[in-house]
Amino acid sequence: MRGIPLIQVPTTLLADVDSSVGGKTAVNHPSAKNTIGSFKQPEYVCIELSFLKTLPSRELKSGFIELLKHGLIHDINLFEFIQGQTLEPLNFEFLEEAIFRSCGIKGRVVEQDETETGLRAILNFGHTLGHLIETHAGYGTYLHGEAVGAGMCFAAFVSWHCNELPEKDWERISSYLRKILAPVVLHNLDQDVFRDLILHDKKTQNQAVNFIMLKKLGASFIQYETPVEKLWDEFKNFTALYPEFVELR
Ligand code: GLY
Repeated sequence: MRGIPLIQVPTTLLADVDSSVGGKTAVNHPSAKNTIGSFKQPEYVCIELSFLKTLPSRELKSGFIELLKHGLIHDINLFEFIQGQTLEPLNFEFLEEAIFRSCGIKGRVVEQDETETGLRAILNFGHTLGHLIETHAGYGTYLHGEAVGAGMCFAAFVSWHCNELPEKDWERISSYLRKILAPVVLHNLDQDVFRDLILHDKKTQNQAVNFIMLKKLGASFIQYETPVEKLWDEFKNFTALYPEFVELR
């Protein structure tokens, strides 16, 4: 009745690199993603790569984007290692190393801040817009990684626009993401809807967002209390300039 010890046996690439490590457990609510949740660390995580053979391409790519996220926020070498590879046909030697390195990054961050009082929030890079996309489009319309990929691109764009991320890094990130992401199309998303969805996300406080930005490729920081209005302005710029990532209809 107070929980039992558990072992995680992830069967998707997304779960290999994200939810199986770190102890976050949650379910979605129609008004916002992951709203009902807790922390429960597994005793053990068993990653069996042959499960990946069962996945459709979209599902694989969705996990790959979370893996890429760990490179963008914390390890340029992982980003560069990934960049030189293709996901399909499955290359288990590459995947084993990439998953191992990715879990290492996540594990080290979680060890320092298990319950997300600070540092762990960097793992939410791309998730402010990503969660909004998933909720607004209806869960399942876009896979988690697809929505987070668009969100990572937006967060990198904001970082560059705010003079935090050098232009050459923005160019590298956006040209790589352009190759691997399909456009996200959102209907009837105006400022009020945007604001409500952002503020319903469990990670917001005091009408503002702790928004994760990049200071360079492989290094991130938390921009505390970013006003939603500022994010909306940046979002309008982003969608006007880069409809190939997110298109408003
Ligand atoms: N998926 C983000 C985290 O585990 O903190």
